[in-house]
Amino acid sequence: MAASRSAYPLALAVLALGLGIFGYAFLERRGAAPAEARISAPPTAAAGAGKVDLTSEIRGVLASIKAADAGQLAVSQEDGRFLRALVVTARARRGLEIGSASGYSAIWMGLGFRETGGRLTTIEYDPERAREAARNIERAGLNDVVTVVAGDAFSEISRLPGSFDFVFLDAWKKDYRRFFDLVFPRLDRGGLFTAHNVVNKRDEMREFLEAIEGPELLTSIVSPGSEGMSVSVRR
Ligand SMILES: C[S@@+](CC[C@H](N)C(=O)[O-])C[C@H]1O[C@@H](n2cnc3c(N)ncnc32)[C@H](O)[C@@H]1O
Repeated sequence: MAASRSAYPLALAVLALGLGIFGYAFLERRGAAPAEARISAPPTAAAGAGKVDLTSEIRGVLASIKAADAGQLAVSQEDGRFLRALVVTARARRGLEIGSASGYSAIWMGLGFRETGGRLTTIEYDPERAREAARNIERAGLNDVVTVVAGDAFSEISRLPGSFDFVFLDAWKKDYRRFFDLVFPRLDRGGLFTAHNVVNKRDEMREFLEAIEGPELLTSIVSPGSEGMSVSVRR
């Protein structure tokens, strides 16, 4: 009896060691799994992660977009800077913008995605604006990070592969709820859904504002500029 009792600690030690090795192997496999389980492939190295300065060339492109923006479609500089900071903070890699206009907000976000090594697809309905956005993005040196798609986002989004971890919605305000319903199922858990004009045009998007208060999201409304931005994290 005494001999078998003294064997217990040894047996327990062997069991603990075995569980430790098994657990380590299991965690190792889990560590590798997210890459294999991704719905979309991670962005290729071509996008090239790294810190980007707001060079005088890029400032010049942004200023020229603002100077030509008679309809005041572009977000404010404050909102642009906020979007870039959000992309970097979230370490976002697969971005979607709905409503590019001339590429102002896409350039700010593109600077963020340059830092994270991610990519942004931005969709613009108006073909002339889409061409202009592509030109501006190229002038800003971001055409390997930002892809402009010309067309109606309601049909173009379904042609894009995989999921998104960052969405910026800035199309016609009455369409916000429909866009939310379309894109939310493809937003990663922990991904951000952001939308513009949620303060100054709140009356045009009541249903959208209700939807982002749902239990599957944590939402905050902020106003870096005066128009308001919603930031919702998918739980
Ligand atoms: C407010 S502007 C976008 C401004 C841009 N985000 C910026 O800050 O530079 C809205 C744009 O959304 C585009 N738009 C509206 N509905 C759209 C749709 N269904 N698909 C794609 N683009 C759309 C409009 O043509 C317009 O250029």
